[in-house]
Amino acid sequence: EKGGYEHFMLKEINEQPRSIADCMRGRLDAKNGRLVLGGLRDYMNKFQNADRIIITACGTSWHAGLVAEYLFEEFARIPVEVEYASEFRYRNPVISEKDFVIAISQSGETADTLAAIELAKSKGATIFGVCNVVGSSIPRATHAGSYTHAGPEIGVASTKAFTAQISVLTMMALKLGYQRGTLSETRYMHLLNELATIPSKVERALKLDSKVKAIAAEYKDSRNFLYLGRGYNFPVALEGALKLKEISYIHAEGYPAAEMKHGPIALIDQEMPVVFIATKDSSYEKVVSNIQEVKARKGKIIAVVTEGDTTVRGLADHVIEIPETEEAFVPLIAVVPLQQLSYHIAVMRGCNVDQPRNLAKSVTVE
Ligand code: M6R
Repeated sequence: EKGGYEHFMLKEINEQPRSIADCMRGRLDAKNGRLVLGGLRDYMNKFQNADRIIITACGTSWHAGLVAEYLFEEFARIPVEVEYASEFRYRNPVISEKDFVIAISQSGETADTLAAIELAKSKGATIFGVCNVVGSSIPRATHAGSYTHAGPEIGVASTKAFTAQISVLTMMALKLGYQRGTLSETRYMHLLNELATIPSKVERALKLDSKVKAIAAEYKDSRNFLYLGRGYNFPVALEGALKLKEISYIHAEGYPAAEMKHGPIALIDQEMPVVFIATKDSSYEKVVSNIQEVKARKGKIIAVVTEGDTTVRGLADHVIEIPETEEAFVPLIAVVPLQQLSYHIAVMRGCNVDQPRNLAKSVTVE
């Protein structure tokens, strides 16, 4: 059932070209400029005219929500708030009928997310679910939704569900932007065509495995890791750190790269590996200066870069080159080597990768 892989997590990491394609199948028809999300059809009006989008989730699904914040604001120009379900539900938040709430959950059973939905529903908001497990509690509690169609995810560490969540949210943002006229026809068409290439680019990224494994061997005994990224890659940094923590039990923190100088920089010495997501995008130059700051303090630099990058190669101890894509779609590719890194480190440390201590696949208690 592990399809020849040693662990479910590895199988699920490697399934991503297919799971992302499955998620887009029947929805994205790039050639003809068509994007259809069945679940959205009856609620498109509400979505388009929403004053605000509130995204609520936990853990990795919350990270997917952060990526969506950038997507919705860039493409559709609607203000977005991303809320930890556990905080949202107890904060007496301001919610109205003009809010469109998106709840993201792989399992569809997370207790806090479910409670956040009930609260928002009681205030008259429209609730849309982005879930993986068909027929689970969250899809039943929401007004509408789109399944991620990633297939069963068994490993406790979420991998293919994360990229499928981002795929659904990306399609939603593009559709919304197009309908609202905040995305031009040409740009929309270009983005749809680029989105369609993501499964094959993820396939290419997966080939970096042996390189990532060698890096894992070098850093497996580190006691701490920092993950840094900006813009769309900031949530990727958070996700990379969470993956490492939960399965290898190494302390790791994700930060927006620019926040480094507001505290975490004090941690940097020759014992501290710092993983940068430094792809060629609008914040590239700034990330390069952050890399220089770490280098000056003798931190070890592992950088995920765009294929062909030479600047970062000259600075970093290790570079992992991923295929180029639109800035907004980079998380779908950049997260892959980070999943592989945490996987290999955990295996090398003898950890139970699929069932890490103290964790459950679905957190049905608060
Ligand atoms: O099933 P959900 O997506 O609602 O689960 C949310 C979190 O419990 C989950 O993402 C958790 O953080 C994962 N173990 C991360 O890999």
